Amino acid sequence: MAADSSKEKPWGGRFTESTDAFVEEFTASIGFDQRLYRHDIAGSIAHARMLSHTGIITESECSQLVDGLEGIQSDIERGDFAWSVALEDVHMNIESRLIDRIGETGKKLHTGRSRNDQVATDLRLFLREEIDGLCSAIDRLQTVLVVLAEQEADTILPGFTHLQVAMPVTFGHHLLAWTEMLERDHARLLDCRKRVNIMPLGAAALAGTGFPIDREYTAQLLGFDCPAANSLDAVSDRDFVIEFCSAAALVMMHLSRFSEELILWSSAQFNFIELPDSFCTGSSIMPQKKNPDVPELVRGKSGRVTGHLVSLLTLMKGQPLAYNKDNQEDKEPLFDTVDTLKGSLRVFADMLPAITVNRGAMASAARQGFSTATDLADYLVRKGIAFRDAHEIVGRAVLHGVETGKDLPEMTLDELQEFSGNIEPDVFGVLTLEGSVAARKHTGGTAPEQVRSAVAAVRSRLAGRNS
Ligand code: ARG
Repeated sequence: MAADSSKEKPWGGRFTESTDAFVEEFTASIGFDQRLYRHDIAGSIAHARMLSHTGIITESECSQLVDGLEGIQSDIERGDFAWSVALEDVHMNIESRLIDRIGETGKKLHTGRSRNDQVATDLRLFLREEIDGLCSAIDRLQTVLVVLAEQEADTILPGFTHLQVAMPVTFGHHLLAWTEMLERDHARLLDCRKRVNIMPLGAAALAGTGFPIDREYTAQLLGFDCPAANSLDAVSDRDFVIEFCSAAALVMMHLSRFSEELILWSSAQFNFIELPDSFCTGSSIMPQKKNPDVPELVRGKSGRVTGHLVSLLTLMKGQPLAYNKDNQEDKEPLFDTVDTLKGSLRVFADMLPAITVNRGAMASAARQGFSTATDLADYLVRKGIAFRDAHEIVGRAVLHGVETGKDLPEMTLDELQEFSGNIEPDVFGVLTLEGSVAARKHTGGTAPEQVRSAVAAVRSRLAGRNS
């Protein structure tokens, strides 16, 4: 995009010198805000309709404006629009083209409006649409997880705390933990949408306008819940962008944690899963390598989204009321956050159905590390021993196991009875992995039957919000 100083500035009236060529480039946002063209045109069409509805312009002027703006949209979509750096941003590029196209009437579009309320409106329209798309992308990922969780409801793997074997859990239960995190992410985005869906138009530059505008009418045309209550606030705050980026950073943090598990699990040491070849890459030097690039990149990209959140908070924090040009810097972090999140959700939903689950490796890992020690302690409690004493008894049995290289279910009854006379032959039922998980069948527990009912609950939640 070349600088083109021959273009007349819409604000050129009070200037006697032309803009320095580098300053023109430096201050322009057209390189990135052209992405808002659809929202800018939709906002302008609604504004034009309101101007005619209130008698500020005539109906025929309104239809010329609307036709002109629709024509520009097709030009842009056909690739027949030369964006000009001299015209600074998407708003002035489109307005100037409108004037070229329809003549004098085009100059009336900006009545009762400023780029300040215009850009805030564009951004809110853009973000509302993106939030809807992201919510659907979260739904899709949750659906993929639920299918996998149902399929793996009986699969057992070690559950970890401190990355040390803790207790056996079902893989279905583990996967459903991720759907719960995503559920909160979805709710946060929807909640943010409520505060996004408020209309700045009518605030004009900062103080409102002397024209008899009808903001409720414009808001209704654009599908906003209501006009913003304070004009100074409407043009200046970008808290809705920050709030969105904060919700997005949380989704990315969740995906990053999930990535870390996929990376660990697909290592030769864990070998719990195999990622599909189509989602991995090789090494240029080590022929055996199959690297989990996709989850590694998602983990890495969570850093950049967190970075955008911090930049936006920093961008906003020193600004006095009302609009300041600083706010032009809100777009690139916002756009990149949207794109990064969209890509990450998509690649996860595409990749997960194609993973191979190594159930045998999961089960044998769960058989190491005395994962049913707590079950033995609970068993002793049921036989009348206080939990602290039971804990001590099992601790001694584990020490014996460490010394002899045997896990608890591998010990004989005599061996186990050395530690407590209350241990009877029925102990082996609780020491198995299956017995351990089956016992945790309360709401939110890891038992296969509980996984199946949690799957049904998540499914009906998903169906409920999409009906
Ligand atoms: N390109 C500007 C932005 O992104 C549009 C608003 C400009 N307003 C102004 N008074 N210079 O924020």
